[in-house]
Amino acid sequence: MHVAAFRCPSNIALVKYWGKKGLQLPANASISFTLRDLYTETRVETSKGEGRAEVYVDGVRQPSFDAKVQAFFDRQKPAMTWMDGVDFRVYTHNNFPHSSGIASSASGMGALALCAGELHRQVSGEMLPTTTISSMARLGSGSACRSVYGPLAIWGEHPAYPGSSDQFAVPFPEQELHENFRQWEDAVMIVESGRKAVSSTAGHKLLDAHPYAAARYATANANMEQLQGILRSGDVAAFTALVESEALQLHAMMMCSMPYYLLMKPASLEIIRRVWDFREQTGVPLVITLDAGANVHVLYPAQFKTQAEELINNSLVSLCENGQYLCSSIGEGVVQLNP
Ligand code: PMV
Repeated sequence: MHVAAFRCPSNIALVKYWGKKGLQLPANASISFTLRDLYTETRVETSKGEGRAEVYVDGVRQPSFDAKVQAFFDRQKPAMTWMDGVDFRVYTHNNFPHSSGIASSASGMGALALCAGELHRQVSGEMLPTTTISSMARLGSGSACRSVYGPLAIWGEHPAYPGSSDQFAVPFPEQELHENFRQWEDAVMIVESGRKAVSSTAGHKLLDAHPYAAARYATANANMEQLQGILRSGDVAAFTALVESEALQLHAMMMCSMPYYLLMKPASLEIIRRVWDFREQTGVPLVITLDAGANVHVLYPAQFKTQAEELINNSLVSLCENGQYLCSSIGEGVVQLNP
């Protein structure tokens, strides 16, 4: 029997991945902030068996998670023959509420990939590079491949980023990151905690026949190049415009998919409006973004924490489901745990 345990953080995309090709490959390049303090911790035990996965969440057996985890291991098998005939017992825990509706697939699949990589080392003696771990995570959930790096990760081959690849994510070079972007925070305003009406998997699929897909991919790739310049130069105003435009484009693509759908709720729009009003009135650079859901991420430089918390507590919390919001610093978050 072998055992491995890792913590892996979540991430929020600044330039969004929306649309795929082939086996979990992105239709355009994307870049994300890693949410150091919102993470999954996973421990995997192996035993000789029939190649089955059994999942325990917070110590409680959860058969409804088995299929997704099983699919993760099945996808690794062509490259990891030792997994044949091995059973996996997976114990997992998120440090944010399950019901919060924030994507746990990125941190969850990232943690699983890190554990699988460590098990591979124990079985074969081969230490896999982080790019391979990232690629393994990608097979579980596309955006998960970015979670194994921080504070920023790039996924998708792009001429402006040497070494970038569709197969795995790479870190944004630390030395290129301007001072202005080194210490940021994310406050995730929980508007809706339940299951989304349309899953990400189904949403990606709708891009295949989307009338604006080609234009969206071209815009995203152009934004990747522009954002690189912004991250190097420290232009927070340009960052704000680009990141907010990306979030609204993601949701605009949903609205003009066929069938069309809406994931934002009235409270999401009201939070966005209040953040914009506050920014206009105070000049405090709060930046909104969204993933494929109703929750609103409010990004801001750490030096404005007091002002941001004031807005959140006085004006935004009342719009959140059960007054719930989650906070994280942007940073690296992978930790190998004592199994
Ligand atoms: O990793 P997936 O397949 O759940 O897709 C996530 C897509 C977005 O969160 C909407 C954007 C992104 O780049 O993370």
